[in-house]
Amino acid sequence: MAERPKNLVVLGSTGTVGSLALELAGERPDRFRVIGLAAGRNAGLLAEQVAHFRPRLVSVADEGTRRALEKRLGGRTGSRILEGEAGLTEVARLDEADLVVSAIVGFAGLVPTLAALQAGKTVALACKESLVAGGPVVMKAAKASGAAILPVDSEHSAIFQALAGQRRQEIRRVILTASGGPFCHLSAEELTRVTATQALAHPTWVMGPKITIDSASLMNKGLEVIEACWLFDLGPDQIEMHIHRQSVIHSAVEFIDGSILAQMGVPDMRLPLAFALHYPRRAPVPGLEPLDLFQVGRLTFERPDFERFPCPGLALEAARSGQSAPAALNAADEVAVAAFLEGRIGFTDIPTIIQETLAAHRPRPLDDLETILEVDASARRQAGLVVERLAGSWAGLKEMAS
Ligand SMILES: NC(=O)c1ccc[n+]([C@@H]2O[C@H](COP(=O)([O-])OP(=O)(O)OC[C@H]3O[C@@H](n4cnc5c(N)ncnc54)[C@H](OP(=O)(O)O)[C@@H]3O)[C@@H](O)[C@H]2O)c1
Repeated sequence: MAERPKNLVVLGSTGTVGSLALELAGERPDRFRVIGLAAGRNAGLLAEQVAHFRPRLVSVADEGTRRALEKRLGGRTGSRILEGEAGLTEVARLDEADLVVSAIVGFAGLVPTLAALQAGKTVALACKESLVAGGPVVMKAAKASGAAILPVDSEHSAIFQALAGQRRQEIRRVILTASGGPFCHLSAEELTRVTATQALAHPTWVMGPKITIDSASLMNKGLEVIEACWLFDLGPDQIEMHIHRQSVIHSAVEFIDGSILAQMGVPDMRLPLAFALHYPRRAPVPGLEPLDLFQVGRLTFERPDFERFPCPGLALEAARSGQSAPAALNAADEVAVAAFLEGRIGFTDIPTIIQETLAAHRPRPLDDLETILEVDASARRQAGLVVERLAGSWAGLKEMAS
């Protein structure tokens, strides 16, 4: 008997990952039925998605976007349109959903991810920030409801695949690969002058602005270490970052006998996304070029330089401190990246903001969502103060240079 299609909800459907998830689902209507969508403020793209998939429930960030969406749709799809956090949560826990793709960027993805897990939904998790900021609470919710988390980040998908059928206690270390970002070759002095436009031009991956800046500062790797600790029950010192510029080994696991199992493929998010969507099955990914190892030729590995790129070191420190420190780190990073994208601070101010925020933070146990929200708000206030101070010097430097 043919399997019924999986009922799919995509949170962050207008983003890079969310759009790709819908593209993959749209190619296989025999496997997927899109029943819920949530996005922020991009009413134009969301209207196209709603018109195409006709989901039962849709949610947007605010009333203005809801009105704009309703106007574009003119009541043609029969979808119920909601707004704000309540709407987002309702979409995330939709009764009939089999799989929820969590692809909202940043801390905003935490509450709906938690809601989906509390409702027992299988979550394909792209929003690493929800684990970085809320790891203990998110994992407790998944355990309590029995919900599975399928990683979408290519590195975590690789680790997940390498661990299939293996025993956790036989892991020696995890090798987390990183492309190195666009500034790997720049000196510390040159890094002080890079602009947001340069940072947004990533050499191997096409991604949203926040993760692109995190990749350039290598903070993305730091966040991924914390994500991997929660997903695979590892300590931060069991995970080693390797700069691997070809980006074809997506990560690897070394076992106690010295064997290393790596997962390889072209650097294209459709690969880990398709894995999570079709899990536990596999399916061909239309249009995805196979990896040509002859063309790749050489595989290289370098140690990350924590002097020039302090962000991953700060993330490791926060992971070792534990408790609420990673939540504070996450908040500070979001504030710093937003300020950099607005041109208010320099690239090398990002780690300073995070470091000063962490220095002012007193780690406390993270037992519930309320505590996470408090820690996040207080770290944002602290990071905001550092931004204000550094923005003055940055404006002065820019004036001198012009
Ligand atoms: N891009 C990648 O290749 C990649 C790879 C691995 C992991 N990830 C992770 O996946 C997540 C998404 O990344 P991305 O690159 O897809 O980001 P993106 O392109 O910037 O998309 C972000 C999505 O989040 C939505 N959003 C933002 N704030 C929201 C809010 N308050 N309420 C509801 N929706 C909101 C945006 O909606 P609007 O645009 O409509 O405002 C958009 O749909 C991140 O956590 C990232 O670390 C991404």
